[in-house]
Amino acid sequence: MLFPFYEDLSTVRVNTMPNRAYYIPCSPNASTDQKTDNPRVLMLNGTWNFRFFESVSQFTFSPDCFDKLPVPSNWQMHGYDNHQYTNVLYPIPFNPPYVPKKNPCALYERTFSIKKDADFSYFVNFEGVDSCHYLYINDQFVGYSQVSHSTAEYDVSAFLKDGENKISVVVLKWCDGTYVEDQDKLRMSGIFRDVYLLSRPSRHIQNYRVKTSITGETANVLVITEDTCSDLLKTITLKDQAGNVLHQVTTTGTSVSFELEAPHLWTAETPYLYTLELTAENERIIDRVGVREICVKDKVVYVNGKKVKFKGVNRHDSYTDTGYVASMEQIRHDLTMMKQHNINAIRTSHYPNRPEFYKLCDQYGFYIIDECDIEAHGQVNTTAEYDSDGYAQISDNPDWELTIVDRLERLVSRDMNRPCVVIWSLGNESGFGYCFKQGIKRIRQMDNSRLIHYESTIVTREKEKDETYEGIDFESVMYPSFEWIDSFFARENETRPLILCEFAHAMGNGPGSLEDYYDIIYAHDDFCGAFVWEWCDHTVLMGEKNGKKMYGYGGDFGEFPHDGNFCMDGLVYPDRTPHTGLLELKNAARPAHITYRDGALIVKNKLDFQNLNDVLYLHWTLEQNGEEIASGTIESVDVLPGETTSIPVSLPETHGARVYLTVSQRAKASTALVSSGHEFGFDQINLSTCDAPVSVKTEGAPLTVEDDDAFITIKNDSFCYRFSKEAGTFCHMEVGGTVLLDRPMEYDLYRAPTDNDRNIKLRWKEEGFDRVIPYTYPITTETGDHCVKICCPMSLCVISRANLAELNTVWTVYESGAVHISAQTKVRDTVSWLPRFGLRMFVNNAFDRCRYFAHGPQESYVDKHIGSRKGVYENRVADLHEDYIFPQENGSHYDAEFVSLTNGAQTLTAQSCRPFSFNASPYTREVLESCMHNYEITESGYTVLTLDYAMSGVGSNSCGPELPERYRLSEKEFTLDFTLTIE
Ligand code: GAL
Ligand code: MG
Repeated sequence: MLFPFYEDLSTVRVNTMPNRAYYIPCSPNASTDQKTDNPRVLMLNGTWNFRFFESVSQFTFSPDCFDKLPVPSNWQMHGYDNHQYTNVLYPIPFNPPYVPKKNPCALYERTFSIKKDADFSYFVNFEGVDSCHYLYINDQFVGYSQVSHSTAEYDVSAFLKDGENKISVVVLKWCDGTYVEDQDKLRMSGIFRDVYLLSRPSRHIQNYRVKTSITGETANVLVITEDTCSDLLKTITLKDQAGNVLHQVTTTGTSVSFELEAPHLWTAETPYLYTLELTAENERIIDRVGVREICVKDKVVYVNGKKVKFKGVNRHDSYTDTGYVASMEQIRHDLTMMKQHNINAIRTSHYPNRPEFYKLCDQYGFYIIDECDIEAHGQVNTTAEYDSDGYAQISDNPDWELTIVDRLERLVSRDMNRPCVVIWSLGNESGFGYCFKQGIKRIRQMDNSRLIHYESTIVTREKEKDETYEGIDFESVMYPSFEWIDSFFARENETRPLILCEFAHAMGNGPGSLEDYYDIIYAHDDFCGAFVWEWCDHTVLMGEKNGKKMYGYGGDFGEFPHDGNFCMDGLVYPDRTPHTGLLELKNAARPAHITYRDGALIVKNKLDFQNLNDVLYLHWTLEQNGEEIASGTIESVDVLPGETTSIPVSLPETHGARVYLTVSQRAKASTALVSSGHEFGFDQINLSTCDAPVSVKTEGAPLTVEDDDAFITIKNDSFCYRFSKEAGTFCHMEVGGTVLLDRPMEYDLYRAPTDNDRNIKLRWKEEGFDRVIPYTYPITTETGDHCVKICCPMSLCVISRANLAELNTVWTVYESGAVHISAQTKVRDTVSWLPRFGLRMFVNNAFDRCRYFAHGPQESYVDKHIGSRKGVYENRVADLHEDYIFPQENGSHYDAEFVSLTNGAQTLTAQSCRPFSFNASPYTREVLESCMHNYEITESGYTVLTLDYAMSGVGSNSCGPELPERYRLSEKEFTLDFTLTIE
């Protein structure tokens, strides 16, 4: 029998050590803060005996047999129990503090040997166990703890013997803590972070606190220790980054203060770290110290007295092959990618990360919003109707005070000494009330040197007009519309800086508008930044099919309830390949903004601390028609943070159309995570002096025209085109013996819905955009100069609905084989905005290579092209497909001048009198829409080319505002104009 702590709100821990800052001690002659290669640390990671029980009622300490399980891991990743992805809804009945009787659990067991030393004490540490655990040493109960993402430390000295010892851990899937760990994630269990035994001299420093302050040109480093005895003699040393000793004090006192002249300050841009050594008895603790200050003054956030912007992302511990287990390599890889994509801030959504994560952030320079392991979102749905008053059940209920306050204490104690942590976050989506007020008071007692963040006051704000939310430093919101942001800055009674703890929901094809958001952030000093939701797609790698990885998401595990693919909303795929949205974010957050005027580059420094000259040089290229005419490098970019400087550049004179100046920002030198030459971003400036005309060769052999009931056939000795009177488009095109088309072209108003179309698509389907039926009126032909014209007035109809659009189409076929279409279009006034308006062609799939002049090389949309450059690109059609795990519209190219498809011998080219969008793909939108996973999609047998008058933007409405008006195709009258040539 287990003690019933797991259903008891008054027991969150039993026999654990008091909370302390994270550190790893070593021996006095060593100098490491690492767990490995450190004789004072016995890692207990590795293979454990493991026995899984479907229900805690079946649990026994002496099962008939054991399996083996690696630690750390999640047992669901090893075939036990079941995966489940749920967002808001609780995975269990709402019956707090009780959890289901059928509560899966497991017994972990292993042995280890020690040489017990009488002068030493021994501490077992668990850095993360979901959801709670009972610890036994040599079959004796030691203690209990919950809070999945926090450290539990136990003094096991009295339980250990010399030689071999047995450690047993019982882990339960659910406990009363489950009600406050309702984060939007795959729900997994087990010992998922490091387990180790520390050997420490019995007399030691139990905890210490480093406080830094800056006054003018000096700084103070204050070190306060909590010792296990009052006469502990300690030597405390502060060294600079080069290892020079700056100060050293030997004392039995518990506080030491060091003055630093001309200190090196820590910022995310300049992460300078001093080294602190605390040596006592037979032990040394090594830590890093960053000298920095954060504060809010007049609604503006300052770091070291300078205004800052958080260019942030939300990051979960989520790996497709290891679940919650984040190795140092995996974390370093995430941080490297973030640095390389100009991200300077991370919200550890929605729980503390493993302790070493913060050390890396100190080292590499990231601002951290350290979030507490609290989310009680499911409370809003306990009555089957969304009700934000439901939050009061926990958050405003004193029975939960201990749960909430304990979690905050654990967060703050563990990470208190980390300079990267600039903000504490009370948790996520749990409402507000009594327990959080107590929590804020507690944090303020423990640490008054950081800011406090909490978003979920939003739910009580409307109702409780007198509530001041004392202690909370930000006005934090998620996913606001631009209108909301404008209204915020128009209000005069706002007293806090605005922060978007989540925005730009990066689900599927999106997010749009990143540069728009960044423009607003930069425009307001009291807008300190925003954190994209979220860093990575959450999935479980389930195998391979059709040559692709099978990534599982909600519903793929037969679970109830589940939230489908809502877990795949990251800037990177599960394997960390960037989504195209990450490239958008990268350029939106680029260090400099550059324009060109009168022989000079106007360079604005968007960094907060560094002169651009210390970071980057510029490389420019001048291109016309996609060909480089000139290029140059500017080494000296002397621009102070926030300032604008004009830097002369001598460009050759250019005239005419399609002239672009691209200025790329490149790393001057290699730094920890960035190699020299790395491109931080770019600006592209259109220097064209006129529009690009479309010129077509018209002459060729004389044309013959055959007109019957069904078709109009136009041909000469080099081609034969057949126009379908039913479709109102060409249904067959043959050139030089090659069949180019054998299916009618179609007017297309629809796209495979993106995740961000999940709401509007219901309307689109009601309107019938996906089932347009052409209706043609009497068609006439006339002969012109080297051409034949087909005039085909027509309607686009839908069963049960009034016509979507009336079209006056004129098709001109030239002797040369060129075809021009002009479709004057009038969309019915009452029709909603359109996903697109285009002409879809099912081209012979031998035309499998593509060349285009548009935004590329990655997909681009009217609201998502800041990360792509306009230029001429060549690619296989198959490679234009962006393989979203949940198939959807993808691979469009915005602002196109031309696109051509070739089979090697012949080339089909489309141009327009105005820039357009296009897709070229082996897949139809129908197949993309009908499949749930990328490994299910099948090629159509064609190169599907859609030439769009316009393609609407993608936005971020999967969880965020509707697509802004300016990015919708809502024009009611326009002309689709394309010229097709085949050469
Ligand atoms: C937010 C929440 C996140 C995530 C997101 C949707 O409301 O804080 O955890 O659920 O919505 O992807
Ligand atoms: Mg939530």
